[in-house]
Amino acid sequence: MSEFPVKIRAGGVGKQFASAHGPVTALQEFTLEVHDGEFLCLVGPSGCGKSTFLRILAGLLDAGSGTIEIFRETEADRPLTSMVFQEYAVFPWKTVTENVAFGPQMRGISKAERTETALTWIERVGLKRFADHYPHQLSGGMRQRVGIARALANDSEILLMDEPLGALDAQNRTVLQEQLLELWQEGRKTVLYVTHSIEEAVLLGDRVVLMTAHPGTVKTEFSIPLPRPRSLKTTAEPEFAQLNYAIWESLRDEVQRSIEEGR
Ligand SMILES: Nc1ncnc2c1ncn2[C@@H]1O[C@H](COP(=O)(O)OP(=O)(O)O)[C@@H](O)[C@H]1O
Ligand SMILES: [Mg+2]
Repeated sequence: MSEFPVKIRAGGVGKQFASAHGPVTALQEFTLEVHDGEFLCLVGPSGCGKSTFLRILAGLLDAGSGTIEIFRETEADRPLTSMVFQEYAVFPWKTVTENVAFGPQMRGISKAERTETALTWIERVGLKRFADHYPHQLSGGMRQRVGIARALANDSEILLMDEPLGALDAQNRTVLQEQLLELWQEGRKTVLYVTHSIEEAVLLGDRVVLMTAHPGTVKTEFSIPLPRPRSLKTTAEPEFAQLNYAIWESLRDEVQRSIEEGR
């Protein structure tokens, strides 16, 4: 991956929040480079600042200190980042098609064109029959597909995914992991993917970066040399199990520490 140019560079990023018990340091000296076209998975104990980092990259929060550089490919009005959240962040008053067409709509793309784009992505995530449904008529897994289709229809240079499958049951999760792999393998967008699941990180990622428990900083990273295209079958490889175990060994101390701190 390192032969590809750097797409995102975070240097010594720090972020504090005010709380009733005084300032909380969410990120401290957080340094990370993500390469163009890389699928990077960020794993760490709850509360270590993963969502904070994604929100900073998405421009939803300012970094308190340090530097964030994101290198644009084009000067066009193509959006730089799109975010997929854990909790079905779709508009309840919009149909599936309107939800997915939202990004292009915000960019002033004509109704005919944005509807066509939306329908393409809706079909790709397997929701063709539900294009005119409203979110409340869908299951959790289907709503999350809408969120993913919406982010992809936005055609941003970078996809930020914050535990996108975290709220799904194991079976839905497995199916969507495989579909995500397929979708990503077509376009090879730069993806920063936060997950609790080491297995998911190893299955999807080119690299897995582990964060320390509070305050969040980079603990170590693993490169995932499993060949692509990957699929569920990859999880049956001995190398997959070995990587999982090695990463878990490294994460275990951090999880223990975060439990002891009552997070
Ligand atoms: N808006 C906020 N106000 C106060 N504290 C916050 C806010 N957002 C996050 N935090 C705190 O910052 C730390 C990191 O949070 P977060 O980035 O959500 O962690 P993660 O996504 O890794 O679970 C936590 O201690 C959390 O309570
Ligand atoms: Mg989070």
